[in-house]
Amino acid sequence: MNQALRNRQWIFARRPEGQLGVEHFEMRETASPAPGPGQVLVRVRAASIDPAQRAWILTETYRARLEPGEMMPSFGLAEVVESNTPGLKPGDIVEGNFGWQDYAVANPRHVMRRDATQALEHLIHLLGITGLTAYFGLLEVGRPRPGETVLVSAAGGAVGTLAAQIAKIGGCRVVGVAGGAEKCRWLTEELGLDAAVDYKAGGLREAMKAACPQGIDVYFDNTAGEILDSALSLMNQHGRVVCCGYVSQYDHAEPGGGGPLGVPGTLIAKRIRMEGFLALDFDKNRKSAEAALANWVKTGALKAPVHVVNGLENAPQALIDLLAGRNLGKMMVRVS
Ligand SMILES: NC(=O)c1ccc[n+]([C@@H]2O[C@H](COP(=O)([O-])OP(=O)(O)OC[C@H]3O[C@@H](n4cnc5c(N)ncnc54)[C@H](OP(=O)(O)O)[C@@H]3O)[C@@H](O)[C@H]2O)c1
Repeated sequence: MNQALRNRQWIFARRPEGQLGVEHFEMRETASPAPGPGQVLVRVRAASIDPAQRAWILTETYRARLEPGEMMPSFGLAEVVESNTPGLKPGDIVEGNFGWQDYAVANPRHVMRRDATQALEHLIHLLGITGLTAYFGLLEVGRPRPGETVLVSAAGGAVGTLAAQIAKIGGCRVVGVAGGAEKCRWLTEELGLDAAVDYKAGGLREAMKAACPQGIDVYFDNTAGEILDSALSLMNQHGRVVCCGYVSQYDHAEPGGGGPLGVPGTLIAKRIRMEGFLALDFDKNRKSAEAALANWVKTGALKAPVHVVNGLENAPQALIDLLAGRNLGKMMVRVS
């Protein structure tokens, strides 16, 4: 143990019986661990706040369900402060699953060195998992063609803002679905989407139909639930549904069982392809995606907004705010 460095850690303390609250977490303070042979000690700089963290609390996903008493896992960026391996040196910036804490010991095999000259906001969002999810989910799974109508849910969030704008860059008519009139206005006026539908305003299917008069060719689904139900009913023949996430089902006591209306009937009748994916499936092509995304930002074709919350102490509230939709773009906690 490194007694000199104080390490704060957020523990997932108790499972929610409904919506997530700060009372489900507890902060613990320990001395920072010391790196063993071949390991590095890193200081966490930024924590990515992801809806998936709520899903990990709820149920088994692509990882085991989180159990009370465990430290809150979190993808993030960290700076190497002590190294016992020739491959990494103090000052290097690495990405990995460091958890909600100040310091972590990491095995070089489990981290990836990033370009330390880039802003943390860019590395965690545009050039991180979010950028890859939007880029490959839309282009490789959705495969939109110019002139087609693309609908994106959670369109004001991290993945949604990028996926929607990439579809615009590709010459599509793009409609976003988001919560609240103000967010919808931001999507059309600031991000340049063709239309936006407020799913909290009521009359969802009719509003979606009015915003998509030619039907929907690609639906990039971040939410599932009633938004997916409505979108499926408006899909065109040979449409594609990109199953990216199901955030409407995460913040509950129990995992939801009901599948969407129209599966499989609508899929068969309209020859629709509905396909799930994980961003990491495309990791081997990461460099080309990063180059394209960075170039679009450089030319002004793409905006990559990041909602920064300062301080590790605010991480639980940041996750609660994300689930309530109080973010524009990517939610990130700056830890140090
Ligand atoms: N497949 C993959 O590899 C992969 C990778 C990363 C993320 N994802 C998924 O992508 C989705 C978006 O993630 P993100 O990181 O970009 O988060 P995000 O969109 O920035 O944040 C979540 C958003 O979901 C919306 N939301 C919350 N509850 C909702 C509900 N009941 N119905 C409709 N919308 C609701 C909120 O916006 P409103 O104001 O609009 O409600 C909120 O801003 C998530 O489902 C996530 O699990 C998948």
